[in-house]
Amino acid sequence: MVDSPLVINKLVVIGIGLIGGSLALALKKNRACAEVIGIARSQTTAEKALELGVVDRVYRSVAEIAGELGEGDLIFVAVPTLTMRTVLKDLKKYVPSSVTITDGASVKGSVLADVNAIYGDAHENIVLGHPIAGAEKSGVTAAIADLYEAHRVIVTPMPNNTEAHIERVRATWRAAGAQVLDMDVEDHDVVLAATSHLPHVIAFSLVDTLANDSNNKNIFRYAAGGFRDFTRIASSDAIMWRDIVLANKAAVLDSIDMFTANMARLKEAISTENVDDITQVFKRAKVARDQFVTYFNQSVDDAAAGSEGKVVYRVAPGGAAQGVLRVPGDKSISHRAIMLGSLAEGVTQVTGFLEGEDTLATLESFRSLGVHIEGPDNGRVSIHGVGLHGLKKPEKPLCVGNSGTSMRLLCGILAGQNFESELTGDESLSKRPMSRVASPLQEMGATVYASEGGRPPVNVVGGAKLKGIDYTMPMASAQVKSCLLLAGLYAEGRTRVTEPAPTRDHTERMLRGFGYEVVRNGATAEVASGGKLTATNIDVPADISSAAFFMVAAAITPGSDITLQHVGVNPTRIGVINILREMGADLQLKNEREIGGEPVADIRVTYAPLIGIDIPQAQVPLAIDEFPVLFIAAACAEGVTRLTGAEELRVKETDRIQSMADGLSVLGIQCETTEDGIVIHGGQLQGGEVESCGDHRIAMAFTIAALRADAEIVVNNCANVATSFPNFTCLAKAVGIQLELSPA
Ligand code: S3P
Repeated sequence: MVDSPLVINKLVVIGIGLIGGSLALALKKNRACAEVIGIARSQTTAEKALELGVVDRVYRSVAEIAGELGEGDLIFVAVPTLTMRTVLKDLKKYVPSSVTITDGASVKGSVLADVNAIYGDAHENIVLGHPIAGAEKSGVTAAIADLYEAHRVIVTPMPNNTEAHIERVRATWRAAGAQVLDMDVEDHDVVLAATSHLPHVIAFSLVDTLANDSNNKNIFRYAAGGFRDFTRIASSDAIMWRDIVLANKAAVLDSIDMFTANMARLKEAISTENVDDITQVFKRAKVARDQFVTYFNQSVDDAAAGSEGKVVYRVAPGGAAQGVLRVPGDKSISHRAIMLGSLAEGVTQVTGFLEGEDTLATLESFRSLGVHIEGPDNGRVSIHGVGLHGLKKPEKPLCVGNSGTSMRLLCGILAGQNFESELTGDESLSKRPMSRVASPLQEMGATVYASEGGRPPVNVVGGAKLKGIDYTMPMASAQVKSCLLLAGLYAEGRTRVTEPAPTRDHTERMLRGFGYEVVRNGATAEVASGGKLTATNIDVPADISSAAFFMVAAAITPGSDITLQHVGVNPTRIGVINILREMGADLQLKNEREIGGEPVADIRVTYAPLIGIDIPQAQVPLAIDEFPVLFIAAACAEGVTRLTGAEELRVKETDRIQSMADGLSVLGIQCETTEDGIVIHGGQLQGGEVESCGDHRIAMAFTIAALRADAEIVVNNCANVATSFPNFTCLAKAVGIQLELSPA
């Protein structure tokens, strides 16, 4: 239920069916418009709309009300695509450009063509849109007030639209409870062809095929729930859908081609009883469908919170930090388990795998490279390794989302293949430096190109003969080291990587676990080609980088007592423990053991007052991902904390020095940034609204800060928490942090 103030004056609905009528009812229910006027060609519809209270007044043509419309009014055209031109002609004749006009057609290209034909360039007030909502029934009697609640509406603004008109359309849909997204017209039509028009075509065609199968009369008598669910959309309005597929003909035909080609491959697999191929297709589809449902439900929740897909955390001040918990699996180890498991011979069983977006991106990439991977199912993954030379050319670019580790390590592996591939990422990853891996790989003889400014997408041509090199890294980076060692598996001779300071060594440990020799000589790790990886079992410990949020939660909260179970405490990852201890934290390691080549322990933290310190530079690479939350510890410490030698923080998912400094300042903490670090003066955290800038660790760090703040902290843009810590909000609430998802 949305309780919004008046967002428009009059709403005029042209075509009072399910779509138009439901917008009218929603705005009335939420008191978002002063009056609803209906325009209906049919007398029966007009009378019904009045009788049902969908409209306050009703007319047969727009000419009758033209004189009374002006700025602040909005016309919603919800007529069949093919009558659009006639309506637009009337609107051009009678309605001034101060009135905002939008539509609800499912195809935007054809409507835009009509608008251009009738208005020429002068259509600043016509902002096209498409509510992604519907029902099996149509007509005004089917209209309901909550049809758009938590549904998406795509708005396709044009360069000649003015901001005021665009904003009025967005505000109107938001007032109806919808989540508003912007897209351009062409993208909209291509995406809808694939995800909506194609499924409708298939559903209509399937039901038609079966219904008219002369050998199987009355076949539907035997059909059950599966058939009903699959074919629900074949009950939609036939004429409307005929018009939609014709209006979006080119994109729909492309989608049908793609589908029939895939179907032909599946047919071939069934006819040749190719068990592997059939299993692959079905399993890939199951995982994709399950993920879709999760994302869909999640974004519906976000929309219900009115957050336009941007998850906002609202954290009440105070709260407790108590409990025993196990955070999800280690991200770095999960990535590597998929990679090395894929390159091994035999089946690798993984438990404790992190089902976060980053590691799932790696998993999907290896599926696209032809590896059969089962799961994940509650952290269990089975990888049917293809050996070092068994990967296949992917059909399309590998998109690794937000994950720098996936992209950089994959560059090393792909450099050794004899096929070409391309790696892409999301907006944040597309800004991160890739020359740090492309340049040394080129030195090894690989043909690897990053795009402009050394950023993604990265093109790996493949097919080159690699040779081992001796490389001293200019920065302490486990990703660069791992990338080169993995390329080294394919390079003639020996590949040596020297690091300026110790970085996480999961690649080296796991290679050994797979039976591959890695030599360590002081600061240099070394591999030779010619070996093979043999499948093994991997138990992924809980991620110390995720546990760190709760370590700091306990370290800053009087009365706290948190135990984190089964945490990976590899010496190259425990900077956060060392730094917190030096600040005075009461932190104990219990039950220390080694599992699958990685040290693991339970970590208990209880409150003790913290003091500011100069963070030893040697600890920086060992705590590189934990600084956002360590800055919160510093803000709660007495005195000054100084960090130096951490310029790498500026090229993480965001510039973490700047993003944290901005947020800390909003919360009343004095801090000064430097090129390679920050100086933080401990003090009283205040409430306020901070930006995570889409960086998962910044979002979680500011959530923890609320434990010691004197008023509510609102953290914007938190959706990416799912990249590394999908159940963070659940665990945070479980320990006593008063966190809610809320409207943007
Ligand atoms: C990672 C290495 C680190 C770290 C990242 C994961 C890895 O990056 O920040 O989150 O899994 O190798 P750099 O090696 O670039 O410092």
